[in-house]
Amino acid sequence: MQTRALGTTGLRVSEIGLGAGPLGGSELDDRAAIELVHAALELGISLIDTAPSYGRSELRIGAALRGRRERVVLSTKLGYAVPGVPDWTGPCITAGIDLALDRMGTTWLDIAHLHSCPLDVLERGEVLDALEAAVRAGKVRAAAYSGDNRELAWAIDSGRFAVVQCSVNLADQRALDAAIPRAIERGVGVLAKRSLANAAWRDASQPGAPDRAEYWRRMREMNLPPHGEPAAHALGFVLAQSGISSALLGTTSLANLAAAVATGALDARSAQTARDAFRRCDRGWDGVI
Ligand SMILES: NC(=O)c1ccc[n+]([C@@H]2O[C@H](COP(=O)([O-])OP(=O)(O)OC[C@H]3O[C@@H](n4cnc5c(N)ncnc54)[C@H](OP(=O)(O)O)[C@@H]3O)[C@@H](O)[C@H]2O)c1
Repeated sequence: MQTRALGTTGLRVSEIGLGAGPLGGSELDDRAAIELVHAALELGISLIDTAPSYGRSELRIGAALRGRRERVVLSTKLGYAVPGVPDWTGPCITAGIDLALDRMGTTWLDIAHLHSCPLDVLERGEVLDALEAAVRAGKVRAAAYSGDNRELAWAIDSGRFAVVQCSVNLADQRALDAAIPRAIERGVGVLAKRSLANAAWRDASQPGAPDRAEYWRRMREMNLPPHGEPAAHALGFVLAQSGISSALLGTTSLANLAAAVATGALDARSAQTARDAFRRCDRGWDGVI
């Protein structure tokens, strides 16, 4: 597994990261989730991205990393779900960091994102001040923003985030036009979320969840020529883009994880075909948060 520099943070991350969204749900029990994390480490994955909203994900990762913490760049998210504390306030960030440390049995977070934080909250500054205080206190190594569109642009231009996480996949390419080039210029590390477009090709008819439905609709409209195995095509597209340090892949399957690790970047011509198709079809196709 190749590693890439994460902007100017001094951290290096595997070019495929374990997106631990699906890791916390009922599809896996605790034991299977822990085995999946161990398998990811064995495959050379050194970045794990989670959030308090991903069910039991943080707890399971904490259990899996006992005695292995040093091997990973650990990333989570903040801004909500702190009992008795209003969301999107400074105290919610400060207490949220302590809760995450506790759940994952660690004394530091490598990357801590404001999780889809609204623009007005960013502008108010209170949550960012609290996040920066945690960096100074050594509890967080890299202050990060996770989200898309205007909020993403604001976060990059603010100069206050070392890392951003945004949607990049075959059906969601807006960030490649302006936000990611700007992040490169400013030395901000970029993590791609939803790298597989939520595997929208798997659904025979339009799925119910609005985000999956949007990707499903976009993929049909783009009508890309088939290019080998669909997951390898999707992931290879993200790996071929410059400025992205790691493509986060969500999976509950050991086989799918192993297949991802064996995937290489798409050739330049096929990547361009996908870029052209997106531009041809893009009618207000904002980044999906
Ligand atoms: N706002 C935010 O901050 C935000 C939002 C979304 C995502 N994220 C981050 O990004 C990560 C990735 O996004 P995601 O999990 O939403 O979506 P994703 O990685 O684009 O897609 C996940 C889906 O792809 C399927 N899949 C994986 N490998 C496959 C293969 N080889 N063939 C067919 N299907 C395959 C998985 O099913 P199986 O379980 O069957 O493999 C799962 O249903 C998340 O886990 C999270 O860390 C962050």
